[in-house]
Amino acid sequence: MKRVAILISGRGSNMEALIRASGDAFEVTLVLSDVADAPGLALARDAGVRTLAVPHRAFGRDRAAHEAAVDDALREAGAEIVCLAGWMRLLTPLLVDRWAGRMLNIHPSLLPAFPGLRTHERALAAGVKLHGCTVHLVTQAVDEGPILAQAAVPALPDDDAAALAARVLVQEHRIYPAALAAFVRGGAAWPEASAALACPLPAPAAVPYDARERGPVR
Ligand code: GRF
Repeated sequence: MKRVAILISGRGSNMEALIRASGDAFEVTLVLSDVADAPGLALARDAGVRTLAVPHRAFGRDRAAHEAAVDDALREAGAEIVCLAGWMRLLTPLLVDRWAGRMLNIHPSLLPAFPGLRTHERALAAGVKLHGCTVHLVTQAVDEGPILAQAAVPALPDDDAAALAARVLVQEHRIYPAALAAFVRGGAAWPEASAALACPLPAPAAVPYDARERGPVR
């Protein structure tokens, strides 16, 4: 059983999914936020998980000093793995290097497409038909690093960013706990049968097939 700490800045729905999935493979020993009134902190407390706020404002522009305080708290909690779950701060090498190979992140796009912010708006603007989410190991480059799991969802014609985000979020809550558990166990990252599409597309309308033409009936 690995001890996991979760870093959040806001809502904490992925954090909640991880807490709910704790059990055999991992336990959540600390939820830490850089925002003192992040709603996720109350959710974690309600779930009986230790919480801590380390507001970055107290450190001014000194990002390394803030990260050193975060790192102290992670170590003090005995964390073995760190999961970023809506942690809205860019990391410096201090935390990235100290937790290399032991820090995971969830990103709301099918990386390497759409790193950064506003992924759903940008996916819609690009006209993609498939969108999704990615769990990956954290490296110094933002939203890069080895991919552990992905789930794809359709981008539908009437989608706005909120509708697409909601469809993706359902899959985030599914793949993050699964990817973390698989990572901890050191096994396959995802059950084989669902490796390509963790969320199947809606069935396409049946297209009559012309056997002689070897294609759709025209
Ligand atoms: C999620 O969309 C996650 O992919 C991204 O930030 C958002 C956090 O949402 N990194 P929540 O706080 O987990 O609800």
